[in-house]
Amino acid sequence: MKGLILSGGKGTRLYPLTYTRAKQLIPVANKPVLVRVIEAIHDAGVSEIGVVVGHTAPEIQAALGNGSRWDVSLTYIQQDRPDGLAHAVKIAREFLNDEPFVMFLGDNVIEGGISQLIRDFAENEWNSQIVLKAVDNASAYGVAKLRADGSIEALVEKPEAPPSNLALVGIYMFDKHVFEAVDAIRPSARGEYEITDAIQWLIDHGHTVFPHIHRGWWIDTGKPTDMLEANSHVLEEIPPCIAASARIDTRSVVDSRVTVQEGAKIVNSILRGPTVIGQDTLIENSYIGPFTSIYHNCQIRNCEIERSIILENSRVIDIERTLRDSLIGRNASVKRSAEKPSGIKMNLGDHSALWV
Ligand code: G1P
Repeated sequence: MKGLILSGGKGTRLYPLTYTRAKQLIPVANKPVLVRVIEAIHDAGVSEIGVVVGHTAPEIQAALGNGSRWDVSLTYIQQDRPDGLAHAVKIAREFLNDEPFVMFLGDNVIEGGISQLIRDFAENEWNSQIVLKAVDNASAYGVAKLRADGSIEALVEKPEAPPSNLALVGIYMFDKHVFEAVDAIRPSARGEYEITDAIQWLIDHGHTVFPHIHRGWWIDTGKPTDMLEANSHVLEEIPPCIAASARIDTRSVVDSRVTVQEGAKIVNSILRGPTVIGQDTLIENSYIGPFTSIYHNCQIRNCEIERSIILENSRVIDIERTLRDSLIGRNASVKRSAEKPSGIKMNLGDHSALWV
């Protein structure tokens, strides 16, 4: 069994963060989503993984290297145009070499990993296994319509009127028959080779596609609100840990569900979990509330922050009101100013959003 991670795409719904960074590298609970995907595949016993990359290839390769850090071997496969998920399978054919494989979208986060799914696929004679999840906004995804006996009747990509509430999760298992399918299908109305069409082709040509219905949480981290939600879920799952080199002074109160990473310094502050504080970050005279991830080398002074993600090298200083439900990029600076006349001064990137 091999793995195939799709890590192209522009991430337009995460602008401005994705002007300067591949969306799959944005951390959730202080670990890039893409690294969580590699770990999930590795935990399921799969170690040969192809990574399909687009224009952010150099950055992704610099972050992941050859995969030895996670005890896997990574092969990069360049996709020159964003021609769809089925096109990614087509160009990965040589790497996959007719072996069964699990394809995992590099921006998906799922509860409980994929070990059981891989076992089920290995133990059955299915040609493909897909993962479905009941959602409220099915028209944002590929959608499956099931028959009364639970088998798949049809799959449609982002339908205006969804035939069910069962969204296709970005985790798929295939055997070599998928290559016939991706060769046979034509581009969709949006000009992409859709994986939903390839799976539909498998069904229409008598191949077995097993639909697994996932009961835990699943997030496709497309938008800032998805990142915050994924962050909350993952923070609840990770075992808390205070690094030996972290410094917490006696005036601080740090509850049991907090992770403080190497070299971080907590001074006269209250930290409520689940929360993670990154390496060499300083938290001083502040309250950091639940579901917050503050990445490496940040400075937070005289602030209250709840349910937020703050990326590396950023500063949030002397802000009177609670900062909540916020996503702040790298090297950002949010400070109080004593300048007169008083007012709000900003220097925001394109597509930024500010609520005052
Ligand atoms: C893709 C697939 C869609 C699937 C989704 C899951 O959509 O085309 O069928 O439901 O991933 O994350 P995208 O997120 O690329 O728009």
